[in-house]
Amino acid sequence: YEAQLDLSDIEKGTYPYYMLKEIDDQPAVMRRIVQEYTNTLGETIIDEKIIETITASDRIYIVACGTSYNAGWVGKALLEKMTNIPVEVHLSSEFGYNMPLLSEKPFFIFLSQSGETADSRQVLVQVNEQGFSSLTLTNVVGSTLSREADYTLLLHAGPEIAVASTKAYTAQIAVLAVLAKAVGDNKRNQFSLDFDIAHELSVIAAVIETIIDEKMLISQLVEEYLTTTRNAFYIGRGVDYYVSMEASLKLKEISYIQAEGFAAGELKHGTIALVEEGTPVFGIITDKKTAAHTRGNLKEVESRGAHNFVIALASLSKETDQFIIPDVHPLLTPLVSVVPTQLIAYFATLQRGYDVDKPRNLAKSVTVE
Ligand code: AGP
Repeated sequence: YEAQLDLSDIEKGTYPYYMLKEIDDQPAVMRRIVQEYTNTLGETIIDEKIIETITASDRIYIVACGTSYNAGWVGKALLEKMTNIPVEVHLSSEFGYNMPLLSEKPFFIFLSQSGETADSRQVLVQVNEQGFSSLTLTNVVGSTLSREADYTLLLHAGPEIAVASTKAYTAQIAVLAVLAKAVGDNKRNQFSLDFDIAHELSVIAAVIETIIDEKMLISQLVEEYLTTTRNAFYIGRGVDYYVSMEASLKLKEISYIQAEGFAAGELKHGTIALVEEGTPVFGIITDKKTAAHTRGNLKEVESRGAHNFVIALASLSKETDQFIIPDVHPLLTPLVSVVPTQLIAYFATLQRGYDVDKPRNLAKSVTVE
């Protein structure tokens, strides 16, 4: 694997920060995942034993921390839609104390860019002790979580150096989509059979490129919305809520703005009390089933003084929206809606003069519990 390591992967080259290089790497990572996990017919290439074991399971537990945990929620949406197997997503540090297993044949999926996160490893130790089946999705060959799980799927994202994870998040979702398709096809799920993942991920790569090309627009918008604020909210419903969780983590961990990701429908149950004149509220709208309701929530906060910033899919957009994303397959919208939020965090941090790649108090891999 070291031999395959392209030196350009671990040098910033002309980039000011690794994080920006890694955001820009994402289209290439999508294309590499298509290459690694599909054949020339567009069929998925996943170890048969993994497919059979998941197919035989009656509940999937996704266990992870931080950004990987946020990716796990998108993975839940993908796996449940294509395999009809119920999926639970758990924070590693919470799940280890009493693994409430509600199934006879559980299957565990560990998401970990580094493959060394102690909180996640302590759960895997228990999973192994109880003889349950496990799979690790990781970016690091030979990492602890990879070696100690029954199976491994690599992210093929190339080394991720910046503490704030970006390309590993989208790579995890893309590999989970391939896995969901492989199991869904095995179960003859029609939605899965109709899902041309090789084509759809190639469309994603091209759309991410168009978003990256508009980074200076985002820089200007960030200057207008985030230069002085102490707090910010991201809101959405369903997968747009799951992306809001990741968007807020990105923003808070490098710009130190107190950001929170919220289920749009939940604001009125308390948190809206925090909205005051000028509070930035970012709305993510990529799902036609929930778009109207989220727009209703945005109106509610705007009437209380919020400064709204809407990130919307083209087919659901209004000309007043701040950032429009070309349409992609409904199941894969998190792969594109997250990219503007990664750039928002990057530019907000630059404008505040903090170190984008090495934020205070944080390490790239948390190897202590
Ligand atoms: C994300 O930007 C952070 N660096 C952090 O939350 C990270 O995702 C978390 O520590 C999990 O790391 P892992 O994916 O290597 O297990």
